[in-house]
Amino acid sequence: MRAALLREVDGPFELADHPDPAADGRIVVRVRAAGINFADVLIRRGRYPQMPELPVVLGSEIAGELEDGTRVMAITPGSGGYAELVAVDRAQVVPLPDHASFAEGAAFLLTFLTAYIPLTRQVRLRPGSTVLVTAAAGGVGTAAIQVARTLGASVVAAVGSYEKLDVCRELGAAEAYVYDELPDDLRVDAVLDPVGGELFERALGLLKPLGTLVAIGFAGGMWPEISPAALVGRNVGVQGFYLGRLLRHEPEVVGEAVGELLALWQTGALKPVVGAEFPLSEVDRAHELVESRTSVGKVVLIP
Ligand SMILES: NC(=O)c1ccc[n+]([C@@H]2O[C@H](COP(=O)([O-])OP(=O)(O)OC[C@H]3O[C@@H](n4cnc5c(N)ncnc54)[C@H](OP(=O)(O)O)[C@@H]3O)[C@@H](O)[C@H]2O)c1
Repeated sequence: MRAALLREVDGPFELADHPDPAADGRIVVRVRAAGINFADVLIRRGRYPQMPELPVVLGSEIAGELEDGTRVMAITPGSGGYAELVAVDRAQVVPLPDHASFAEGAAFLLTFLTAYIPLTRQVRLRPGSTVLVTAAAGGVGTAAIQVARTLGASVVAAVGSYEKLDVCRELGAAEAYVYDELPDDLRVDAVLDPVGGELFERALGLLKPLGTLVAIGFAGGMWPEISPAALVGRNVGVQGFYLGRLLRHEPEVVGEAVGELLALWQTGALKPVVGAEFPLSEVDRAHELVESRTSVGKVVLIP
């Protein structure tokens, strides 16, 4: 099979013949679309905390077909998706809804689970609650706007550039700002933050009493140290979320959330945003787009 191989940190991807994956009790899926996640970018740049051994075929989520033509989507923890075939644990295989394209399937599981589990299991949202979503036009961000709206919350979206404001409003954000123009007097009940760095600290300062910030990523830089004293004094909390580890240690929690999300997708309340599709041979260009901070929604590779 053909696969995009990353041989070294910062290196280009090499489209190469690669041995077909051995099933080994798993199920082999013919990949029709593979989602690019920011973690793939961090691995390529050597910035991911759990670096895989190189060379590696990246790609943690796919949509495709089983041998009998059944349409599926799956999380492929850690690697293997940027290829024509991938072996997946049976427990990770989820039916792809009839109404969905393969590209949408490859843009659904990781993004929506990363928005949905924190917003339903880690924070207390009520109708009328306000949620601040940072990197709101990205893969997780576009999912988070939709999830928060579906849960009855009002969304404040924050993004890195003006061009991204409209997409956030179109997805249902009540307000949208570039980071530098977030009002100082804004107060929110919850924050979902994929950006980290300085923005994490600023967003923490926007929480109402009893509010919670969920840290899910550090696309903009590592998190600063925070003291419990700063949290206690303001009656606010910080939670962390990492889907990879939850999948390993609490798979039933993730499975339950997948079921709830599929039902919401079926009703039309949620729809994955595919911002760009590239053939697998153009994986370098696809990564450049994500790194340029100009991508919207999810960038998907088509083997
Ligand atoms: N914890 C988990 O389980 C989990 C699961 C999935 C993803 N994540 C994390 O969630 C975040 C979003 O992931 P995603 O795959 O959906 O990516 P994405 O949001 O589509 O792309 C990353 C976004 O981060 C923002 N960003 C801020 N500072 C940046 C910088 N210095 N360089 C590049 N981008 C920067 C950019 O949006 P702006 O220009 O609008 O700022 C960019 O579009 C990532 O941090 C990822 O690692 C975590």
